[in-house]
Amino acid sequence: TAFDLVIRNAKLCTAADVFETDIAIKDGVVVCLGKKLAKGTREIDAKGRTVTPGGVDAHCHLDQPLAPPARMADDFETGTRSAACGGTTTIIPFAAQEKGQSLIAAVEDYHQRAGDLSCIDYSFHLIVSDPTPEVLDRELPELIAKGYSSFKIYMTYDDLKLDDGQILDVLDIARRHGALPMIHAENSDCIKWLTKRLKARGHTAPRYHADARPAIVEREAAHRAISLAELVDVQLLIVHVSGIEAIEQIQMAKARGVNIHAETCPQYLFLTAADLGLDGEYEGAQCVCSPPPRDPENQKHVWRGLENGLFSVFSSDHAPFKYDDAAGKKPNGCEVDFDHIPNGIPGLETRLPLLYSEGVLTGRIPVTRFVELTSTNPAKLYGLYPRKGTLAIGSDADLVIWGDQPVTITNDALHHAVDYTPYEGRVLGAWPAYTVSRGEVVWDGKQYTGRKGHGEFIARSRPFQEITDDQ
Ligand code: URP
Ligand code: ZN
Ligand code: ZN
Ligand code: ZN
Repeated sequence: TAFDLVIRNAKLCTAADVFETDIAIKDGVVVCLGKKLAKGTREIDAKGRTVTPGGVDAHCHLDQPLAPPARMADDFETGTRSAACGGTTTIIPFAAQEKGQSLIAAVEDYHQRAGDLSCIDYSFHLIVSDPTPEVLDRELPELIAKGYSSFKIYMTYDDLKLDDGQILDVLDIARRHGALPMIHAENSDCIKWLTKRLKARGHTAPRYHADARPAIVEREAAHRAISLAELVDVQLLIVHVSGIEAIEQIQMAKARGVNIHAETCPQYLFLTAADLGLDGEYEGAQCVCSPPPRDPENQKHVWRGLENGLFSVFSSDHAPFKYDDAAGKKPNGCEVDFDHIPNGIPGLETRLPLLYSEGVLTGRIPVTRFVELTSTNPAKLYGLYPRKGTLAIGSDADLVIWGDQPVTITNDALHHAVDYTPYEGRVLGAWPAYTVSRGEVVWDGKQYTGRKGHGEFIARSRPFQEITDDQ
């Protein structure tokens, strides 16, 4: 019987190799690689263009309930559609526990939210905000064993943060049950103290968000998080690292042999604090995220960390809030103080094209490293490999065929439900010409061709231990 889909003349790039091949797909899986493969029911000629494994976005927020009026603009339908049109074929958003809520109830709630809305495969990280004895002794171990093999904890945000003793407790559960903990490292009390002082001086514009969360606040928390992980003897992933101060802490930890992984995001390569605007300007609220974007010197250090192996993972941290919306950055048309602007920026769709264009096409990073950062490493760390994160016989047929024409980013052309992109007007060297999710074309370079319900929940294994961190 014929293959379902054959992609001809691919320049197939994995984290390890680049080679010319046809790719044959049957029942959503890669079944043959080689030249002159038999016919497929559908055929696509890649014409020698680069083909990479579909993106795995291991850090994105969809449909998380928040304190009113804030509401996330993307649900699992618009969020996954947007991801697919930018080359991402697997997402790991969060199932967040509210204080006082059972962790298992939180997970059930998020499964309801995902329903059958997703057009690409998805899994969930847990967010542990209330580590009661019940959560530590029963719920968390049970959920880890059931395929929720990673969880995020916070050192800041009143409704989420844990104190150091609680952090030690949950890190110890991660160690004993083989889960991967992720941490948001910013010092909460420093942020509060700086915020109060800024506001007392009348500094309320979005730009002061950056002054309330300077790099030292991230550096101190990163150092402390590393120390706590070292004490417990567990691996730890530090999410959304913004610049040199936290990078240095990670470098020192790795040099000591501590098993620390680090993630960064497009906003720390392409935005700076200047994007938060000047005094009296409010539009910079669009770029308010935590940690805040820094300066060009820090961008250079983040690029270096992508080049030299300091970072294992490149994620979007997609946090979708509209700008001009009752539930968004400018609630009911009000220019609120910086500390009341919902945190986070959209980026599911632009993550891969930004790094491919500005990293690979400019020669900053090899395409193999691009694949490692955006697909292979997140798949390995979060227990999805080798089903996801590579293109090999037996892997899911999740892939991107890259276009070779320049594209200007405009929000009108994106597929999320957010009313802006921080990257409006930026010219990229390429955009995906096709995205394929388990053998189905979900983006054909012009249109979304996927369907909601195609995406399946994936229960994940424990972290794949042989991940190669070069440092
Ligand atoms: O500002 C951000 N990053 N918002 C999303 C939530 C988080 O802390 O990752
Ligand atoms: Zn965070
Ligand atoms: Zn420097
Ligand atoms: Zn986040």
